[in-house]
Amino acid sequence: MAGKNQTLGEFIIENQNDFKYSSGELSRLLNSIRLAGKVVNHEVNKAGLVDITGAAGDTNIQGEDQQKLDVYANDVFIKTITNRNIVCGIASEEEDDFIIINSQDNKHQNKYVILMDPLDGSSNIDVNVSVGTIFSIFRRVTPVGTPVELKDFLQSGDKQVAAGYIVYGTSTMLVYTTGNGVNGFTMNPALGSWYLSHPNMKFPENGNIYSVNEGNYLDFPAGIKMYIKYCQAEEGDRPYTSRYIGSLVSDFHRNMIKGGIYMYPKGSKNPKGKLRLLYECSPMAFLAEQAGGLATDGTKRIMEIEPTELHERVPFVCGSKNMVKKVTEFMQTFG
Ligand code: AHG
Ligand code: MN
Ligand code: MN
Ligand code: MN
Repeated sequence: MAGKNQTLGEFIIENQNDFKYSSGELSRLLNSIRLAGKVVNHEVNKAGLVDITGAAGDTNIQGEDQQKLDVYANDVFIKTITNRNIVCGIASEEEDDFIIINSQDNKHQNKYVILMDPLDGSSNIDVNVSVGTIFSIFRRVTPVGTPVELKDFLQSGDKQVAAGYIVYGTSTMLVYTTGNGVNGFTMNPALGSWYLSHPNMKFPENGNIYSVNEGNYLDFPAGIKMYIKYCQAEEGDRPYTSRYIGSLVSDFHRNMIKGGIYMYPKGSKNPKGKLRLLYECSPMAFLAEQAGGLATDGTKRIMEIEPTELHERVPFVCGSKNMVKKVTEFMQTFG
C-alpha cells in the first residue's frame, strides 16, 4: 500500500499492474521523466547564477520568443528519453515537427509516444516565479516496426495512458496519473529522491479561487465576462479570490489543492485560445478528471476533442467541478 515515505521509484513498480499494455516500457518512461525533471530542476534553481535566463534568440513555430531555459529543458527531456530508447516518437512545444525515434538495435519497436511542454510559464523564469513541465503519453496507433506517424500524436485526450507535470516551485513536485487517480511526489533536494507526499489528490468540488488573465477582459466572450462578474459579486461565499501566476502548471496545482478554476478563453488576439491542446490542455484535463474536476472548451470535454494539428490551440476552462459547471452555464447561455 502507498505510504507517505514511499519513493516514486517504488510507487511506479508497485503500481505497474495498472498499465494495460507494456507496463515495463511505461515504467521506464516515467523513470526517465523523473530523471530529466531532476536535471531541469537543478538548472532552474541556479538560474540567477548562471547564464541561463533571458531570450535564446529564436522563435518557436508558434511565434513565441524561446527563452534559454525553454531550449535547455527541451534538450534535456528529448536527450534523456531518446538515449533510453523507450518511445517511438516525441513531440514538443519547441519542435516544429514530431521526432521519430529509431535505434540500430530496436527498429521502431517501442509502443509509446510522448508529447510535452518542456518549460511551461517561460515568462516567469527571469523573475524567480514557479515554472513547470507538462507531459502526455499515448500508445501508438500505427503498427510497431514502422516509423511513427502524425496520427500517433493526434489522439484525443481520452486515449492517454499517462499524463502529468512537474512544478519547479517553492518545492519541486511531480504529479501524474495513469488513469487510476492522481498522486504527487515531492523531491528531497538533499537526496535527489521523490517521495509520495500527496497521495490521491482531489479537486475540492467547490472552490473560491478564479485564475484568468483579466487584462484581456474586454476581449473575452460574453459568458466569461458574466462569470467573472459573478465571481466578483458580494453574495453567499463570494466574492471569490483572484489568483493568476501565468504558469498553467502552477495555477492548476494551486487550484487542485485549494479549490478553484483556471480559464484561458478565446478572444480576438487568440481566436482559438492560447493554450495548446496536445501538450497543455489534454494532459491537464486528464489530471483534472482523475482528481474529480472538469475541463472543457465551453461546449465539449477537452478529453473528447479530436486534434487535427500538432500545435493546435483550444479555449480552456478547468478546475473544481461545480465552478466549471457554473461557467459552462454562462458560456452556453451568453456565448
Ligand atoms: P509556455 O510558457 O509553455 O509558452 O506557456 C505559457 C502559457 C501558460 O503557462 C500560461 O498560463 C499562459 O501561457 C499565460 O499567458 P498570458 O501571459 O497570456 O496570461
Ligand atoms: Mn512557449
Ligand atoms: Mn505552456
Ligand atoms: Mn513551454
